[in-house]
Amino acid sequence: MKLTILVLSLVMSVAFSNGVLAEEKAEQSKETKRAWNEMNEEQKTALNAKPDKENGFEVYEVCSACHMPEGWGMKNGTFPLLAGQHRSVLIKQLADIRALNRDNPTMYPFALPESIGDAQALADVTAYIATLPMNPDNGVGPGDNLEHGKKLYKDNCVKCHGENGEGDAENFYPRIQAQHYAYMLRQFEWIRDGKRRNANPDMVKQIDGFTDKDMVAVIDYVSRLKPPKEDLAKPGWTNPDFDD
Ligand code: HEC
Ligand code: HEC
Repeated sequence: MKLTILVLSLVMSVAFSNGVLAEEKAEQSKETKRAWNEMNEEQKTALNAKPDKENGFEVYEVCSACHMPEGWGMKNGTFPLLAGQHRSVLIKQLADIRALNRDNPTMYPFALPESIGDAQALADVTAYIATLPMNPDNGVGPGDNLEHGKKLYKDNCVKCHGENGEGDAENFYPRIQAQHYAYMLRQFEWIRDGKRRNANPDMVKQIDGFTDKDMVAVIDYVSRLKPPKEDLAKPGWTNPDFDD
């Protein structure tokens, strides 16, 4: 508990002082936009490195201040679920956030090499996250237009995110089952409207023309897709690594 408070106060002070710097760098990186998943050296190195899970836990302590000890984020969508996400996707997103190819001013200062380490740290922390079971009780949508959402999902999303939202590790397509509704809604809107710069251009094309109502319906449907039982935490599970 004490550690969490310490990390959180660190979070607040560093986030504050680095905000301006992050904005400046984001401006620069907009001008040198990369092709989708054109991997930088860091991403390649992290993907190929042999992970050290013990160091991964050390690194994860910083992350847990926001993503929580279980890696489940928050139901209100402020912080996404990380547990269960494909390692390839986690590494891509981390490398993108560090390279300011995806804006995340809240997290940016904590994700930098000077706070957590180089490409090896990305390999390690994602290997640790991969050991965490998934949230059995994620945030879901209003539930009032699910038939429409289901049809939209089948026609527009299955080919990349899979029948049941399982994603595709090899192609860097995120697993979206068990993810929080509010987080996904925000990302989906940012992808549709061009605000998330690392978005897959084929997805952008696919959802061009989605109204806000379509968006709510499809994400509501996705938020109710369940991972296989063996990937979910048992009722009442908390992360024992954080026991004092
Ligand atoms: C100060 C809070 C904070 C800390 C500390 C933090 N994150 Fe995050 N992280 C966020 C927020 C907020 C988002 C979602 C941003 C958005 O909505 O676009 C996020 C998003 C992510 C994503 C993208 C998830 C996805 O589904 O695409 C990954 C991966 C991630 N964080 C990993 C980490 C790791 C690993 C650490 C520790 C090294 C960490 N985060 C530390 C706040 C934090
Ligand atoms: C052409 C493949 C493709 C299609 C079609 C597609 N997506 Fe995606 N989607 C992706 C990829 C790739 C990402 C991650 C982008 C990145 O950051 O590199 C993504 C990201 C997302 C995210 C954010 C996930 C996160 O963890 O941040 C959501 C939510 C999402 N897609 C939902 C959908 C839904 C719903 C549909 C159908 C209406 C859809 N996608 C169609 C490939 C696709």
